[in-house]
Amino acid sequence: MKKRAVIQAIGHSVPDKVLTNHDLEKLVDTSDEWIIQRTGISERRMCGPGETTSVLSIRAAKEALAHAKMSPAELDLVVVGTVTGDMLFPSTSCLVQAGIGAVNAGAFDVGAACAGFIYSLSVATAMIENGQVKNALVVGADTLTHFIDWTDRSTCILFGDGAGAVVLSGEEDQGRGIMRTVLLADGTGSQYIDLEIGGSRYPTTNPESAKARKCIYMAGSEVYRFAVNAMGEACCRILDEAGLSPKDVDLFVPHQANLRIIDSAAKRLGLSEEKVFVNVHKYGNTSGGSIPLALYEAEHEGRLQPGMLVMTVGFGAGLVWGANLIRW
Ligand code: ACO
Repeated sequence: MKKRAVIQAIGHSVPDKVLTNHDLEKLVDTSDEWIIQRTGISERRMCGPGETTSVLSIRAAKEALAHAKMSPAELDLVVVGTVTGDMLFPSTSCLVQAGIGAVNAGAFDVGAACAGFIYSLSVATAMIENGQVKNALVVGADTLTHFIDWTDRSTCILFGDGAGAVVLSGEEDQGRGIMRTVLLADGTGSQYIDLEIGGSRYPTTNPESAKARKCIYMAGSEVYRFAVNAMGEACCRILDEAGLSPKDVDLFVPHQANLRIIDSAAKRLGLSEEKVFVNVHKYGNTSGGSIPLALYEAEHEGRLQPGMLVMTVGFGAGLVWGANLIRW
């Protein structure tokens, strides 16, 4: 019988420090009103000293394991979707594996920016379905505030830090779990969002690297246009492949980048407001953390009930985009 990858439990972690729009008004020429009107964001969380992506990931992972009542030794795999790992190497997943004591697990990172959780969930699902692993920890986590130019008003208002983690296990197919995934990419748009310094193109050891950008760069309106199309395309494609229509979706959990992007995707799909989960006002864009953090909050608010069809969708630097259909 076919194995399904089923989410057993979710955990999350955000830093305690809150950065409000009013705080940003003191740093750059902006206003609470402008930020809310253009993005829907009111505040975001920001790492304090010593808080790294692995620190948030470990907290989220421990919470997910506790809710799943699973010991870390039962995990066969740790996957972390992140583009803000603690170091270029080793992978953040290895730091998480050690931090939680997943002594029997393999570990690797997936670099798919804001679609990092969607990509990671897809990889872990395939490995469960083909019998390679039984239990996997899938984390989406980013700490982009470490890489922001606090004088650039077009980017510093958007991002926050956060992590979410799920325990995913193989079960006999009973019609629930990760039902389908769509992954898409277009590297010809790689120049629209990047962080140049520190890779092999601009290693810190090379004097030439002085010209490299040291903070996140984003061409906001190009990314905006791409995002609106990408969200619609991934959702239509995954529903089409599953032989379903938007009216079959019980809860839409999109990447929380910008309320206007979420609203336009929901409108294109004809989804009513109560079917769309939004928490961008509290956290801003937490990149890989965004979707698992939203799933965590949706479950805790009672908006995710067993049997519901959940559609996630995300997009980000790469460019990459994708979607998951999950029967809760
Ligand atoms: N406060 C006040 N004014 C601002 C601010 C600000 N914080 N930022 C920009 N402006 C100004 C601009 O300078 C511009 O002024 P001008 O007309 O005098 O030149 C004006 O506002 C309009 O700027 P736009 O960039 O056209 O504003 P827009 O409505 O497009 O909103 C935004 C900008 C919010 C960045 C939008 O483009 C966006 O959300 N883009 C997508 C970002 C995204 O989702 N990224 C996700 C991927 S990130 C990842 O993968 C890591």
